[in-house]
Amino acid sequence: MTESKKFFIYTMGCQMNVYDTGQMENILFSMGYKKAATYALADIVLANTCAIREKAEQKAFSFLGRLAKLKNKNPELIVGIGGCVAQQEGMKILERMPQVDMVFGTDAIGRLPDLIRTVALENKRVVDIETAHKVFELGPVKIESSPRGISRFVTIMQGCDNFCTYCVVPHVRGREKSRDPFHILQEIKALTEAGVREVTLLGQNVNSYGKKEGLCSFVELLERINGTDNLLRLRFTTSHPKDLSSELINAYTYLDKLCRHIHLPVQSGSTDILKRMNRRYTRDQYLKKVEELRKISHDMAVSTDIIVGFPGETEADFSDTLDLIKEVEYDSLFVFNYSDRPKVPAAAMDGKISKSIQNERLQAVLALQESIAMKKNRAQVGMTLDVLVEGKSKKQNRKTETMGSNEDQWSGRTSSNRIVNFTADPQGVEGAGSFYGKIVRVGIEKALAHSLRGKMVEASSKPEGMKGEKDYAA
Ligand code: SAH
Ligand code: SF4
Ligand code: F3S
Repeated sequence: MTESKKFFIYTMGCQMNVYDTGQMENILFSMGYKKAATYALADIVLANTCAIREKAEQKAFSFLGRLAKLKNKNPELIVGIGGCVAQQEGMKILERMPQVDMVFGTDAIGRLPDLIRTVALENKRVVDIETAHKVFELGPVKIESSPRGISRFVTIMQGCDNFCTYCVVPHVRGREKSRDPFHILQEIKALTEAGVREVTLLGQNVNSYGKKEGLCSFVELLERINGTDNLLRLRFTTSHPKDLSSELINAYTYLDKLCRHIHLPVQSGSTDILKRMNRRYTRDQYLKKVEELRKISHDMAVSTDIIVGFPGETEADFSDTLDLIKEVEYDSLFVFNYSDRPKVPAAAMDGKISKSIQNERLQAVLALQESIAMKKNRAQVGMTLDVLVEGKSKKQNRKTETMGSNEDQWSGRTSSNRIVNFTADPQGVEGAGSFYGKIVRVGIEKALAHSLRGKMVEASSKPEGMKGEKDYAA
């Protein structure tokens, strides 16, 4: 019997790529491939790349550099580059990198079997960066019982029509296109049957879901997903502030599985900079949306993305950003140094900001956020929170011997997306020993900058929102 061939996929970039890697894995499994533990043991290595900033692109090319050595030793090895750098560079990659056999864009995943066969059987090098008008559907696949945990991403739409002036996404991922709700619901059902309890719906701008295709609205989609048996939590990302509707804000009041957290990327606190970014909202309009969200619930968590050092960003613009962060009091944020991307309008703008000033501004944002996060986390001490258990805490894995008690260390997240590490005395609590994938109640005892610590007080709970209807944790 011949041993089956093995694959390895290196995933860079955003959650979209994580989802796409899952699709690639399913395709390779269906072709009879197995997963290799490291790329050195694989017969086919795929790099799923990101082009969002220069650093991300460099990371992709440095990985391909490492593969060149491997390919020299083993000419049979198939090397493929997929994702956003593949989409952006196409044929140029084959010209520059002799170790690459296959360049496949973000819409070519469904054609992987043919591409791989062409490389393996005909010994040809191939490029496929054609963009599609419809989202590729893999069809019903058998999902293995949850080796990747209880929480998964599900892409509901691809591409972007917004053309923010700094951003490469619309140029690489093409125009916005939505998946049919039927396929989305089918996929989520299969995931929950395999043990998944939380899904995060992905799109660059979920607010415009289904509009072009005349499918249902995003809120209708949420309503339908909310009815999925055994699903405990529902999240989504990203919502563009300009399109965040009152209808969607209102959905938080009646959808019991929808988590009390929204990622609402602001990018800058200066209306001037926002205009030049083509974000199409002002600082005040953004703040009004946040106010509306917090009216729904004072514990509504809001996170954001910020770009510092956009071309022409003055000290005054930057202090507008710091002020906005103070005003909103974000629960968490990501901050990036502006990075020139090929062909985007911002790359041709005057007033480029030096690396050192960018770094100073980045550090200032991080320091400010650290103090806000600490303050907000401290406010959670003494509360009892619902935590969806994702597994044993990392600390427990490292220090099993030294813990030395009958208490178990677990880890999970609150509805507001805070990480909670907690102990559970298996003797003291009924139903203990199998918290994985369940929502438990945890008394918060200690706040850290990026997580909370506590003790489990109840082994089961109802989903947030509509308490007392049905015991979902059972
Ligand atoms: N669709 C999402 C974001 C996708 S990209 C949205 O509209 O918010 C993720 C983040 O990367 C962006 O929010 C932005 O903060 C950052 N980003 C995008 N292009 C960038 C660039 N050229 N330089 C630095 N950061 C960038
Ligand atoms: Fe990029 Fe703007 Fe589209 Fe987000 S909305 S992906 S930042 S162009
Ligand atoms: Fe995502 Fe990076 Fe592409 S952020 S959409 S993988 S450019």
